[in-house]
Amino acid sequence: MSEILPGFRAAPPSPPSRPAQQTGTRRDGGAFPVEYRCGRFSQTGRDWTIVVVRDITQNKLVEDKLLQAQKMEVMGQLAGGVAHDFGNLMAVANGNADLLRDHIGDDWRLVNLVRALEQGGDLSRRLLSYARRRPISPQQIHLSDVVPKMSGLLKQAAGSSVELRTNIEDGLPGIDADPGELENALLNLVLNARDAMPHGGTIAIEFARLDPDAAAERMPGGKRPDDGVRITVSDTGSGMAAEVQERAFEPFFTTRAGRGSGLGLPMVQHFAEHAGGAAFIESVAAKGTTVHLLLPAARRDP
Ligand SMILES: Nc1ncnc2c1ncn2[C@@H]1O[C@H](COP(=O)(O)OP(=O)(O)O)[C@@H](O)[C@H]1O
Ligand SMILES: [Mg+2]
Repeated sequence: MSEILPGFRAAPPSPPSRPAQQTGTRRDGGAFPVEYRCGRFSQTGRDWTIVVVRDITQNKLVEDKLLQAQKMEVMGQLAGGVAHDFGNLMAVANGNADLLRDHIGDDWRLVNLVRALEQGGDLSRRLLSYARRRPISPQQIHLSDVVPKMSGLLKQAAGSSVELRTNIEDGLPGIDADPGELENALLNLVLNARDAMPHGGTIAIEFARLDPDAAAERMPGGKRPDDGVRITVSDTGSGMAAEVQERAFEPFFTTRAGRGSGLGLPMVQHFAEHAGGAAFIESVAAKGTTVHLLLPAARRDP
């Protein structure tokens, strides 16, 4: 055992240890990630050790894919912000070069300057179009069509020690959202919930009709939606301290130093906002957390 799990001997004695991760070695020499827990107990006068080893290659693949998507999203935002400011500076410089031309005519140095400024403007426009080319295409989607296709991925993300329950109310209106963004948002929420429950627990995802009056105060501009959907993802995990909850939607804010990117909840919030709605958190320390997404109904029902 210690051959494939070098840290095995160092594992703490009973009660069952928290899951730990190691790199395992396959018979053909290939490496793969494993998660293991150890526990010791005495029975029939002897000490026993039980070790549960799980191949988590699939989970890692899912998490890597998500992290990549998060990085792209942030790169897009950064590029967009820089391009925007840069474009404004170029416009100021161009305007002044024009004024200068009125004074000194078409001096070759001025011509060169204007050409460079035009190239700078071009560059900022290309950057902006890159930032806007994020593969987001809001379309009218019906949760009862798209969510069942995601359940395998979500179950995998939740892991085997967590029970995942999903409930979709009948007859929900369509929403304007990008299915890829919805999948990422749910995946982020499930991963967060799982991480808050290292000893297992329950994640419940509910898709229900929202109450327009109750939703109004949360909606952008306080606008009361005529109809819409409320998605809630609840866990029975550690909950959040008030100061964590306050900052949870901040990009790069994480309490999981070294493991978290702090980009999960900001992505969830972006998703809700792109869909014309809002996201908020309810959390009680040691009881659990519920993340609510309030999404207005798509403008036209075909
Ligand atoms: N379901 C949850 N239960 C408890 N804490 C949570 C939950 N979801 C998020 N958090 C807290 O919010 C922080 C930010 O979450 P997130 O933006 O997804 O970043 P990350 O998961 O990379 O840390 C987490 O580090 C954690 O402290
Ligand atoms: Mg997260």
